[in-house]
Amino acid sequence: MSSSWGNSIRISIFGGSHTQAIGVNIEGLPAGERIELPEILAQMARRAPGQDKTATTRKESDQPQVLCGLLDDVTTGAPLCAIIENTNQRSKDYSQLKVLPRPGHADYTAEVKYGGHQDVRGGGHFSGRLTAPLVFAGAVARQILARRGITVGAHVLKIAGVKINDQPFHPTEVSRELLDRLSSEYFPVINPEARESMRQSIEKARLSQDSVGGIVECAILGMPVGAGDPIFDGAENRIASIVFGIPAVKGVEFGAGFSVADSRGSENNDPMYVSEDGSVRTRTNNAGGILGGITNGMPLIFRAAFKPTSSISREQDTVDLSTHTNAKLVVTGRHDPCVVPRAAPVVEAAASIAALDLLAQSRML
Ligand SMILES: Cc1cc2nc3c(=O)[nH]c(=O)nc-3n(C[C@H](O)[C@H](O)[C@H](O)COP(=O)(O)O)c2cc1C
Repeated sequence: MSSSWGNSIRISIFGGSHTQAIGVNIEGLPAGERIELPEILAQMARRAPGQDKTATTRKESDQPQVLCGLLDDVTTGAPLCAIIENTNQRSKDYSQLKVLPRPGHADYTAEVKYGGHQDVRGGGHFSGRLTAPLVFAGAVARQILARRGITVGAHVLKIAGVKINDQPFHPTEVSRELLDRLSSEYFPVINPEARESMRQSIEKARLSQDSVGGIVECAILGMPVGAGDPIFDGAENRIASIVFGIPAVKGVEFGAGFSVADSRGSENNDPMYVSEDGSVRTRTNNAGGILGGITNGMPLIFRAAFKPTSSISREQDTVDLSTHTNAKLVVTGRHDPCVVPRAAPVVEAAASIAALDLLAQSRML
């Protein structure tokens, strides 16, 4: 089971939803970096459940304890390990899932792969709760990036069933102020009016015992030209790889993404020019800030598509693994009717870790 990621900044996520604790070990951080705990707590609070009707009613305090790697709030260069105790488990809710796997969740694949030894309680190691240590690591990375002039922010671009969604990032002109605002909000959106219609769509799905998915769009500002490598270790590879580590992500696209298939070279090529400050820029940004796997100095923009939460409370078709017959399932327990608002800070965290790893890998840290 690989729950580790990274070339130069390596993170290892451990624990399960109902184990004593979950946590992360981070290796490769530069020594001498001051890490402010309140900033970490602020990011973790954005991801925590129980904040409004668009999320599960579970309350988790998400209080991290740093075991090692910091001395007087400064990185020592040794691995930084933090744990978060699990305090709000209701394990009985999940007992039936070993026999009746939830359609759309990992119950069936894990049962076959691990021969029934996997921890199904609360989704075990597959739970969205494992994104809490990811956000911890991202909040550490974000502070180190900020000192190098790099800012990360994401917003909820789309929720299924909503007619007027949020406006996308301007491809070439993303401001730091906007990213700072987004990364301080729960349910971040560029246009606040979009949030209410998104909330209504999530609530409508919840009331009809259903769920909805959506899209998170993320921007990284200030990446220097030259981070990333061609072929298998490019910026797209590294970012996609960590973002696909977020449960429920089914698609990642950069810049113009899948729409490039509909355009001509004359439309898709980003015209280049020398700006007033002497830097080379492009007038459009279909490349999303990456060419040949290497950052080109333009805003790095990508989107992640999240599927609707699989644990819905209406009756569904499944199989009974004990009798190998068809069966019906009604999922109980407390689940997010939509994971997207809570996932926005997780995408930011993943992007921050990837950006830091790319810089370290390219010896630009
Ligand atoms: C922040 C967050 C919260 C989540 N909450 C739930 C949940 O309450 N119920 C659920 O069934 N899935 C939830 N998920 C998604 C599952 O963890 C995920 O669908 C499952 O592990 C299967 O993996 P896959 O969807 O990537 O194939 C959540 C995901 C994230 C990112």
